[in-house]
Amino acid sequence: MYSRIIGTGSYLPERVLTNQDLEKMVETSDEWIRTRTGITQRHIAREDQSASDLAMLASLNAMTAAGVTSKDIDLIIVATTTPDMVFPSTACILQDKLGVENCPAFDVQAVCSGFVYALATADMFVSSGKCRNALVVGSEIYSRILNWNDRSTCVLFGDGAGAVVLSQSDEPGILSSHLHASGHYRDVLSVPGSISGGIIRGNPYINMDGGAVFKFAVKVLEDVAHEAIAENQLQTSDIDWLIPHQANIRIIRSTAQKLGIPLDKVVITVDKHGNTSAASIPLALDIAVRDGRIHKDQLIMLEGVGGGFTWGAVLLRW
Ligand code: ACO
Repeated sequence: MYSRIIGTGSYLPERVLTNQDLEKMVETSDEWIRTRTGITQRHIAREDQSASDLAMLASLNAMTAAGVTSKDIDLIIVATTTPDMVFPSTACILQDKLGVENCPAFDVQAVCSGFVYALATADMFVSSGKCRNALVVGSEIYSRILNWNDRSTCVLFGDGAGAVVLSQSDEPGILSSHLHASGHYRDVLSVPGSISGGIIRGNPYINMDGGAVFKFAVKVLEDVAHEAIAENQLQTSDIDWLIPHQANIRIIRSTAQKLGIPLDKVVITVDKHGNTSAASIPLALDIAVRDGRIHKDQLIMLEGVGGGFTWGAVLLRW
């Protein structure tokens, strides 16, 4: 038995924050942000929205596209770094909001690799026959963990959600998944704060060594793509669409160049969305499905890297 994505959906909050808006908030320029990152704008959630709200809207779109209802969903996995609360999990809150009855529901915390981790996990449940229709979601409100006075980080991120329905299938689907982590690098990219005794202890905002992240990301995104291709006895030239985590256009370009994949086979949304962490891959996937770029039988590589460090890839046949 195999697992296949049968529907995708996404949601972006209405409010758009442009580089010109940021020029009024910190000492930066549209030119600096565009040339260093490729980002021109990002979406920002309303005060009253939480990650589960964004997840719900993306999920409803994915379920409609898949032709399933809440009665059909028997597993929910949400990848998020910005959960609604310490507990219950955002997946349990989403389950309630969608009216899904009794099924396993849990969050995955692998930062920007979260969706790849969540999809790989759902594949184990679905392809083993334990579940029929898994809802796999990446949902993030990074605007809440950014220090809006820190120009080196606040210009990079945005809010949003993407979702897929992964279902049992006689034909593949997901061909293989490849997950990695190295906690040795945990200080390079982190939100080190925690809650203790009712107070926040340590820095509750993103802390990042941008240069170190850049070098590590380019290396592992190349390595893990080769690992997935080799395991399936394919060539990188067989890939129809590369959908990498959308952190920075320069990381995406370098990765594609090292893999020998032309940029017209790479789905790019970082310019319009910024870095939406665990939401970036399912958001980009949904956009390419809905605008007709992705067709049946095409070979698609999803790959991500994020804090931890964590990194991974899922190779699939559409
Ligand atoms: N506007 C203007 N100047 C800025 C800004 C800003 N928003 N932010 C930093 N600067 C300044 C710095 O203060 C520094 O100034 P100095 O030289 O006087 O000290 C200078 O710009 C640094 O410039 P560069 O070295 O040219 O910057 P670089 O090319 O390294 O780009 C960046 C920085 C964009 C952060 C890059 O390192 C990067 O993209 N790294 C990856 C980080 C990333 O994507 N993180 C996302 C999370 S991780 C993930 O999703 C995988």
